[in-house]
Amino acid sequence: MPVLQLIRERFKRERPLQGIRISACLHVTTETGNLAVTLRDGGAEVCVCASNPLSTQDDVAAAIVREYGIPAFCIKGEDSKTYYEHIRSALAYKPQITMDDGADLVTTILTERKELIPNVMGGTEETTTGVIRLRSMAKDGVLQFPVISVNDADTKHLFDNRYGTGQSTIDGILRSTNLLLAGMRVVIAGYGWCGRGVAMRAKGMGADVIITEVRPVRALEALMDGFRVMPMAEAAKIGQVFVTVTGNKSILRKEHFLAMPNGAVLANSGHFNVEIDIPALEALSSSRRRIRDFVDEFQLVGGKRIYLLGEGRLINLAAAEGHPASVMDMSFANQALSVEYLVKNHSKLQRQVYAVPTDIDQEVARLKLRAMQTEIDVLSEEQVNYLASWSEGT
Ligand SMILES: NC(=O)c1ccc[n+]([C@@H]2O[C@H](COP(=O)([O-])OP(=O)(O)OC[C@H]3O[C@@H](n4cnc5c(N)ncnc54)[C@H](O)[C@@H]3O)[C@@H](O)[C@H]2O)c1
Repeated sequence: MPVLQLIRERFKRERPLQGIRISACLHVTTETGNLAVTLRDGGAEVCVCASNPLSTQDDVAAAIVREYGIPAFCIKGEDSKTYYEHIRSALAYKPQITMDDGADLVTTILTERKELIPNVMGGTEETTTGVIRLRSMAKDGVLQFPVISVNDADTKHLFDNRYGTGQSTIDGILRSTNLLLAGMRVVIAGYGWCGRGVAMRAKGMGADVIITEVRPVRALEALMDGFRVMPMAEAAKIGQVFVTVTGNKSILRKEHFLAMPNGAVLANSGHFNVEIDIPALEALSSSRRRIRDFVDEFQLVGGKRIYLLGEGRLINLAAAEGHPASVMDMSFANQALSVEYLVKNHSKLQRQVYAVPTDIDQEVARLKLRAMQTEIDVLSEEQVNYLASWSEGT
């Protein structure tokens, strides 16, 4: 993670986060370990907890506690009660900055720990679903401090959501099933940043990719990118592998399970495990058994079998290792620089969701290009003037 490394070296010298308490609720992976150490080297007192019960890499959690002295509250496979207890443990550190992936820290502060609000300078949010929750809090006037939407930085969603989720979702499906995707009908629900990435990679592996969407422009884009587009009611009848990545709920539900062919495989890569209606699948089934790690077989009344991967949780983190470090490098560089920005500027900010400042986004891109040993052209003075003028070019 060369960009984060450069930031870490500067943080070590300048200590811009000296004495700031940060609670970070993120997928506890090697990349998160790197971010936590970077923040600590900037002078912060950091603790981490998981942002999903299945995404923790236990060896990483152990290492950040033992090697770096950073408290970590997370165990891969923890139940829902333990998951929320861990969030409360991270809040016991009375954070001045919250760092969320799905807005669980902010939600818990606003609902259970309101006395912490005066201490909080602001927060950052990593993912689309969290940003949606936070924007609705701001709209209803309940958000009590500024939050920076790291997800919306170009150097985050254009790369992390598209290439990171694209590759690692396929990785999670392959690691858990060892399927050959070539020639299979793969249905992807949602053609957003993540869905585009998953579709692109599935196509690259020879799958016959079908997209379902609700937004006309995105559906059109999928069509012109060369995919079949149809409603889920139709796709359910012919799909063999289904991937939900919408950030919405009940995308795959009772009528779809009933329509699916025998042997259908279901995976989700959206933030919450609500995209596949698992209670409805259970209600239709006479038995459920684990047949491989991360693969549950549901036998429906009548004998049809449907396979659910990773308990419907983000499959790239449950069954694989999440996004590769090179893409998290940019996402977490945005996180580190956004925290620094919040510490310097929080008193000027309102209780709103803010974009990552453009100069941070541009700087992350510049540093990443340098790390990838790629140079680009610069505008000449003549070109700068041309672009700034309304009278030229006629
Ligand atoms: N697995 C990961 O590592 C990872 C990484 C980044 C984001 N995410 C999560 O993935 C989800 C999607 O993120 P994104 O950045 O692609 O969001 P996005 O908003 O760009 O795309 C979501 C798409 O789903 C579509 N959609 C909504 N409801 C639908 C429905 N009923 N049927 C079909 N399509 C529907 C929307 O129209 C939109 O185009 C979010 O929950 C986000 O938090 C996961």
